Amino acid sequence: MAVLSAGKGESKYNIHISNKKIPKNVLNKILSTKNKVLIITDSGVPNQYLKSLKKDINTKNQYSLILAKGEISKSFKSYQKILNKLVELKFDRSDYLIALGGGVIGDVTGFAASSYLRGIGYIQIPTTLLSQVDSSVGGKTAVNLAQGKNLVGAFYNPRLVLISTSFLKTLSDKEYKSGLGEIVKYSLIGNKKLKKIIEDRSQLIVDKDESTLKVLIEESIKTKSKIVTKDEKESGIRAILNFGHTFGHAIEAYNNYKNITHGAAITLGMVIASKLSFYEGHIKDYQLDNIINMIESLGLNTDHSNYSYSKLKKYMASDKKVKDGKLNLILIDKKFNAFKTSKYNIKNITSALN
Ligand SMILES: NC(=O)c1ccc[n+]([C@@H]2O[C@H](COP(=O)([O-])OP(=O)(O)OC[C@H]3O[C@@H](n4cnc5c(N)ncnc54)[C@H](O)[C@@H]3O)[C@@H](O)[C@H]2O)c1
Repeated sequence: MAVLSAGKGESKYNIHISNKKIPKNVLNKILSTKNKVLIITDSGVPNQYLKSLKKDINTKNQYSLILAKGEISKSFKSYQKILNKLVELKFDRSDYLIALGGGVIGDVTGFAASSYLRGIGYIQIPTTLLSQVDSSVGGKTAVNLAQGKNLVGAFYNPRLVLISTSFLKTLSDKEYKSGLGEIVKYSLIGNKKLKKIIEDRSQLIVDKDESTLKVLIEESIKTKSKIVTKDEKESGIRAILNFGHTFGHAIEAYNNYKNITHGAAITLGMVIASKLSFYEGHIKDYQLDNIINMIESLGLNTDHSNYSYSKLKKYMASDKKVKDGKLNLILIDKKFNAFKTSKYNIKNITSALN
């Protein structure tokens, strides 16, 4: 088992990564037998995981709430449901929420934890690849509004993150590929070791080899935790984690958040951002080919021909990264380091999207 950490001072937390079951001794070290625990999960997370978690927790004061699966549950309605349950069960500040599920469950549970009684502890047990390499670490919590995604939320770190590759056995190929997209991202924004692992072991990754997956998750989290610890509230360096996200979010919004996973949209966004990096002269043509080949070797789609600039423009303009009317983009340089810039030729965006 690997143990990493993120966060500073009082809000520092450990992240345990294993290809066995989640370590119940670590979980029970945080939860006292007197604590109340409310586990939040969704209808798409196999029930065996909830049952097994309940057995692993020593406290008898344990409760669960199963939300509907899908983005629909990252809503005020679910948030309110969680709060109602906490009030009904008389949770106090020493009690805990546990998020057992993907990014949707992690985000809404974290937001409820951040605001109930001005903050109670929560533990992330991420069960999708995307949540294991991305959303469970970094303390971003949120719900969506009808007007847009993630419009309400808080930066609020979990007390503990427990990751097990064993959850991934039941994950659909579509959701698995969604997580691979985010792993590719870390390899393009500075983690050269990860890039080499992807290039050398693409077939093992496609085959979901557990020990390869453990290393991929570890490397991804090393990059994410380093960045989010330096910049907890996204006032600087953390922006590079958004590589591919301006275009990716626009693709998700254009599709009304249906029929395309977050990771698949971000993967297309990274292809577009890499092409723009090439047109801007930051990377060479062979490096662009290398990126596209690497992504395709994992079985991920790189064809963004459905999304022209005219289709995506209006969604890009409403991106949170627009400051003083200027859209900041994350591009990469020839050493595969990412940087934020508002200096680019708009014509090159049109070319990148062709
Ligand atoms: N907080 C952050 O920093 C951050 C970062 C990236 C993405 N996100 C958010 O994460 C969300 C996407 O998360 P996601 O991709 O995990 O999607 P998700 O939470 O909707 O999960 C995808 C599907 O997989 C199912 N599932 C979960 N675990 C499973 C398992 N082990 N076996 C079988 N099925 C399983 C779920 O029921 C769901 O139907 C988005 O809302 C996005 O905005 C947040």
